Amino acid sequence: MTDLIPPHGGTLKDLRLDAPAAAAARQAAVEHASWDLSERQLCDLELLATGGFSPLEGFLGRADYERVLNEMRLTDGTLWPMPVTLDVSEDFAGQLSSGDRVALRDPEGVILAILHVGDIWRPDRAAEARAVFGTDDPAHPGVAYLLERSHPVYLGGRIEALDLPSHYDFTHLRLTPAELRERFRRSGWRRVVAFQTRNPMHRAHVELTFLAARQAEANLLIHPVVGMTKPGDVDHYSRVRCYEHVLKKYPEQTTALSLLPLAMRMGGPREALWHAIIRRNYGCTHLIVGRDHAGPGKGSDGEDLYGPYEAQALVERYSDELGIQMVPFRMMVYVQERAGYAPIDEVDEAAETVMNISGTEFRRRMREGLEIPEWFGYPEVVTELRKTFPPRARQGVTLFFTGLSGSGKSTIANAVMVKLMERGGRPVTLLDGDLVRKHLSSELGFSREHRDLNIRRIGFVAAEITRNGGVAICAPIAPYAATRGDVREMVEAANGGFIEIHVATPLEECERRDRKGLYAKARAGQIKGFTGIDDPYEAPEAPELRIDTTDCSPEEAAQQVLLKLESRGFIDLR
Ligand code: ADX
Ligand code: MG
Repeated sequence: MTDLIPPHGGTLKDLRLDAPAAAAARQAAVEHASWDLSERQLCDLELLATGGFSPLEGFLGRADYERVLNEMRLTDGTLWPMPVTLDVSEDFAGQLSSGDRVALRDPEGVILAILHVGDIWRPDRAAEARAVFGTDDPAHPGVAYLLERSHPVYLGGRIEALDLPSHYDFTHLRLTPAELRERFRRSGWRRVVAFQTRNPMHRAHVELTFLAARQAEANLLIHPVVGMTKPGDVDHYSRVRCYEHVLKKYPEQTTALSLLPLAMRMGGPREALWHAIIRRNYGCTHLIVGRDHAGPGKGSDGEDLYGPYEAQALVERYSDELGIQMVPFRMMVYVQERAGYAPIDEVDEAAETVMNISGTEFRRRMREGLEIPEWFGYPEVVTELRKTFPPRARQGVTLFFTGLSGSGKSTIANAVMVKLMERGGRPVTLLDGDLVRKHLSSELGFSREHRDLNIRRIGFVAAEITRNGGVAICAPIAPYAATRGDVREMVEAANGGFIEIHVATPLEECERRDRKGLYAKARAGQIKGFTGIDDPYEAPEAPELRIDTTDCSPEEAAQQVLLKLESRGFIDLR
């Protein structure tokens, strides 16, 4: 353990063992139980190991946990607002007792740390949510994580770190607390104001940081979170490319960029306090807290979960013992008459025109390929984001046909594919039911379990095609609504469109056509579990499109699909 002395941030608890001790600990670990760390736990471990979470020396034990929940303090009285706990399954906890050691591993199996198990307990997670987040509404992402994703048993205990989680991206920007302090020291930066963010930076943010640095008479550290942020945020690769553009807007040698591998909880006020302590550990003397800092958005009732300046109020209340100063800001807005930005409380709204583009409006404009005014965003940043969020006509899309055997799925799917190939400009892949069963799922039968597995495989492939900007056309029977819902989620999570087309040709018509002779066999009892005969088909309730092919040619049906694609913006028919 190394203890560094101020000016920059006080004592730093670095939990990493030196190389010989780490090698010995790694050898001894063959005797220990092993836990594979989740993404969140990996982030927490990295900040514990490097001292980003100083003074913590491991995952919280029970007494510390209880006091953090109730009073935002560790048992020794130190201010600490956020529980940092190691959640594990019942099964795993069942093998352990206090005094055991656990090898904590990354997803590839590399041992990153040894946990010396202290307390083992079952927390009341709903009570934790209410204490930490002030609500147990699962619309709050921190609450949803706690209630839906975290494991039921907590392990507390000291950590010895052997290795940091490996990162291959932007390694030159990933400075640890000790490295960042050293960099400030070498540069002679005695006052440093940190800017926390999880979003791309636009002009408002740059103006805000300029003002903050001037007010605090400090250098500036842009310190974005690249661990875990709010679900649905812009991915960190795109954001860091944007930050690198933005960095050029600052006078040289005044501003630094470093990435913080934190897993945010979107805890608003408590999170702002936590951010302050973390930035103190990274050697900063000031932290900017603006409007709705680390805000979780709206609750199930449509109301904001926290007030826009609640975070500032809480940080202010504890300012004496934080060891870092807050630079508070009201909302920054563009003032037309000044052709520049100002905090809203310094604007005379009766005499001046205030302009603002909300996050939602910004995303809408990006999605529809609309212009972003220069007063709002830097062209380099907008260009960078357009690569990540191309307009719909260049996004990937999955066309998911579902319906009975012989309803016309494959015929329409083929016609649509050919029409799209004829137009050109986007790769098209057909995942037809029969073809998939031949190449991707040849070992599967027609039980519910096997049907679901088959559909999930199709969904996985379709999501990958969609993610890479292609058109995936799927044409399986897909009789179960829940499974189709899962595929929709997978595809939408891949930043693309999902269009469900129910080919609703009635059973009688499918059976009358019986193009493969399968209905005859099913009726004769030669095939069991045939959809529509002795196996269920759950018709979609709200597909994007429904087509009955009884009185409709394949060309007409394909045309309907293309028109739907056009009306949703995925192709440009003009
Ligand atoms: S956060 O979850 O990390 O807080 P975001 O990246 O949007 O989200 O904000 C980073 C910091 O900038 C926060 O302190 C936030 O309050 C502040 N901020 C963002 N936009 C504005 C704005 N228009 N006016 C004032 N403060 C802002
Ligand atoms: Mg078919």
